[in-house]
Amino acid sequence: MAGQPKSFFLSPELHDYLIDSGSPIDEVSKWLIDQTATQVPELTRMQISPEQGSFMTLMTRALMVNKAIEIGTFTGYSSLCIARGLGPKGSLLCCDVSAEWTDIAKVAWARGGVAEKISLVLAPAIETLRGLPLIEEFDLAFIDADKESYENYYEEILLRLRPNGVIFVDNTLWSGAVLDPSNDEADTVALRAFNKKLASDNRVDVTLLTIGDGLTMARKRE
Ligand SMILES: C[S@@+](CC[C@H](N)C(=O)[O-])C[C@H]1O[C@@H](n2cnc3c(N)ncnc32)[C@H](O)[C@@H]1O
Repeated sequence: MAGQPKSFFLSPELHDYLIDSGSPIDEVSKWLIDQTATQVPELTRMQISPEQGSFMTLMTRALMVNKAIEIGTFTGYSSLCIARGLGPKGSLLCCDVSAEWTDIAKVAWARGGVAEKISLVLAPAIETLRGLPLIEEFDLAFIDADKESYENYYEEILLRLRPNGVIFVDNTLWSGAVLDPSNDEADTVALRAFNKKLASDNRVDVTLLTIGDGLTMARKRE
């Protein structure tokens, strides 16, 4: 079920153990993971891992999130997980550019009973973000789109995040490439710079969690 671990630092056996030690994966998530593997097999690694999905639901619930935003929706697994953690009046704004991939997401949201909590905007996410009012209204954000734009997404979201709100950022270990000085690919360089910036950003408390391919968690200071 879990497939090849995105947590490159875990053996497949330890990863299986980790999955088995968390809440069981539900049928809608299983369906979506299978659909993604069938319809876009070459891109399944874009999807967050099951343990990250459970973590996102758990954190959304524990933080009592009412208003959330996601940058990078793909076939909808992370959005399904966030939306499930929202309270009865909660909402999630999803930003992506692909109608093809998010059409799969729409089916998953309906199957998961969360479609009414989610609005999808298909446009470059930086335009969507800059078009939002400058109000500190979001409780939680998840950034998981083009890596070179992470810093811009982060800045626009931070302006619109309430104090104590949390931003999650995916792939911040980038399979370990962030540590390889010979790797000067644009995505790697951007992620390295992003991680460095956040570590010294006094507007947030930040930690890089070893979930999936690295998940940064930043809390906006009051
Ligand atoms: C890694 S995938 C997201 C995976 C998703 N969070 C999940 O768990 O299934 C990245 C997504 O970002 C979207 N994307 C890439 N560039 C974008 C941009 N400039 N604006 C909005 N979305 C973008 C892609 O279409 C893709 O669906």
